[in-house]
Order: sequence, then structure tokens, then C-alpha cells
Amino acid sequence: MGKIILTGDRPTGKLHLGHYVGSLKRRVELQNSGEYDKIFIMIADAQALTDNADNPEKIRQNIIEVALDYLSCGLDPQKSTLFIQSMVPELTELAFYYMNLVTVSRLQRNPTVKSEIQMRNFEASIPVGFFTYPISQASDITAFRATTVPAGEDQMPMVEQTREIVHKFNSVYGETLTMPDILLPENQVCMRLPGTDGKAKMSKSLGNCIYLSDEPEEMRKKVMSMYTDPNHIRVQDPGCIEGNTVFTYLDAFSKPEHFAEFWPEYANLDEVKEHYQRGGLGDVKVKKFLYKVLEAELAPIRARRKEFEKDIPAVYEILKKGCAVARAEAASTLEDVRAAMKINYFDDAALIAEQAKRYAKG
Ligand code: TRP
Repeated sequence: MGKIILTGDRPTGKLHLGHYVGSLKRRVELQNSGEYDKIFIMIADAQALTDNADNPEKIRQNIIEVALDYLSCGLDPQKSTLFIQSMVPELTELAFYYMNLVTVSRLQRNPTVKSEIQMRNFEASIPVGFFTYPISQASDITAFRATTVPAGEDQMPMVEQTREIVHKFNSVYGETLTMPDILLPENQVCMRLPGTDGKAKMSKSLGNCIYLSDEPEEMRKKVMSMYTDPNHIRVQDPGCIEGNTVFTYLDAFSKPEHFAEFWPEYANLDEVKEHYQRGGLGDVKVKKFLYKVLEAELAPIRARRKEFEKDIPAVYEILKKGCAVARAEAASTLEDVRAAMKINYFDDAALIAEQAKRYAKG
């Protein structure tokens, strides 16, 4: 068995820097490493509908945004299968069978779902579909026999739930499903990039995102108004690095060569931090540097996006082809699952013959 990747994103908006450092950038590296036999990247529209049931237009409009973000970051349809979740109905059937293997109380313990329920004020009336999306996610992962799920830390409970389902399924019905592992970002700061306002997470609903597709001027404004150290009032005051978003972003994005190129007064990030902590280095200078660092990363992505934007039908064609490939893959797993669960009645000649014999006697 080879190494197989499955991962994806909900199409509820354009992708932002949190997605990029948390998963997207890594996917492209893994894709280009040549170490994986198959790579499936999914636009999780069905999952997005579990908490946007009243707004299908939003999901529909954002499928192309996510696809453009994927392609502009360097996901290559020659190497990775890009597809849309709902176009693979086999996933839904798998989820229905997996539901028998999971308890309500187990779902209630999922910390990511718990905090999402809180954020959406769903406490009093949780949609069943939303509550069970970790099971659907187990279908996504297992349908492609994924060994590896590159994702951010918030996806850990989903992969854990998937592993439990795989274990349970295989022990009840026989060895059928592949046990997946999550692949977390290597860099600690990339685990969960804070929003520009310093809040724990970059999130569209909090309005604290820098999008991959932001124009330079938009991004510059966001960087210049970023949360820093509220007590660092005068330039000469000592500043604090911990919880200072600008430095968190520099930890995530700055590379050694950026200093020589954009800020030769400093040899590396440690020197900048030291000066800031000592006092005498103003926020504006650090922010201007961060802007240049981000622009160096995002300019090529933005440029590639503009190219793909010129031929939207071609992007849909890429997705359509990807869906066909994904569907064949999921159908083959579903066939194994049905056989393991003994729900392949018409294909089971032995069953029919045995019953025929029994009734012939009577
Ligand atoms: N839950 C993921 C998100 O919030 C999207 C997703 C759906 C996913 N199915 C998946 C991620 C399977 C990894 C593997 O963006």
C-alpha cells in the first residue's frame, strides 16, 4: 500500500494566511516531494452546508474561490486530484454506515465541534448534520484510503474520530479500512496563526484575516493596523514579543534572506526581537518589514491567481475531471465496505444458493 493524502477545506470564503501556513503550503511541498502515490484535495461543500443550510448560494460562489486559491498556491491538477465533496455521493453512503459505529456522547466530546457550536450559538438547537460532520469527515478520509491527512491542529479531533471508526469497523467487519495519521505543521507558530487583531484564530467571521488574494494595498493596510504590544507606546519603550501578532507572523513567514534583502540593519529575526525588547524600535518599522516579507510570499500566488481567473470554465473542467477520478476511488472503497458488511446481496451467489436449498427442502 502506498502513501495517500486526503485533505480539504470548506468553501465558506476565500482562503487566508491561516489556511496557507496551517496546511496549504505544506500540501504543495508534499505534492512536489514525489513521496505520495495519490493526492486528493477536496472542496468540502457538503460539510460547509452543515452550518450554512440556509445559504447555499454562499457555498456555491465560494467553490471557485477555493479552487483558484488552490491552483494559485501551486496545487497542480497533473499531480493532485482536486474535487468537490458533494459530487462524490459514495461519501454520504459511507457516512451512513459509520454512524452505527459512533455514539452520541462520543460526538459530544469533540472539542472542535464543541467550540464551533459555541461560536455559532447553536447550543439550543444543533443541526443533526452539523453534529455528525466528524463522521462524514471519516468517510472523506477513508474513502480514499488516505494514510496521511495534512491539516491544522483543529482537525486533530476529526482524525482521531476517524481512527476510532477505522479501528471499530475493522474489528467488527474485518480488515477493510486504512488507518490514517494527521500530519501537523512542522513549525509551532503555524499550528494556529492568530488574526490580525491578535485573537486566537484567523476567521472570516471575526474580520481579522489576510486573504491570499488580497491586493497589496489591502494587505498593507491590514498589516499596518495589526495588533502589537498595547503597552509599547513610545518608540523608546521596551516592547513585548509574546502575544505580539506582528512577531508571530514574522516567526511564521520571515526567511533568513529577507533580512539582507529588506532590512540589512539586522542579520536575523533574533536581532530584531532583541532590539524591540530593549526599546528603541517602533512598531511601524517592524510592520513595514512584515509587509515586505508577506508581499514576497504572496505576489507570485496573486499573479498565478490572475492567470487562472482568465479562464474560469477551465477551472471548472479541472474540478469536473477531479470529481470523476475521486468518484471511482470512493466507489471502490464503498464496494469493499458493503462486502465487509454483507450488504452485497445480489452479488452473493452463495447466499442465494444456500437459501434456495433451504427452501427447496421445506
Ligand atoms: N473540516 C475541514 C475544514 O474545516 C474540511 C474537511 C472536510 C477536511 N473533510 C476533510 C479536512 C477531510 C481534512 C480531511 O476545513
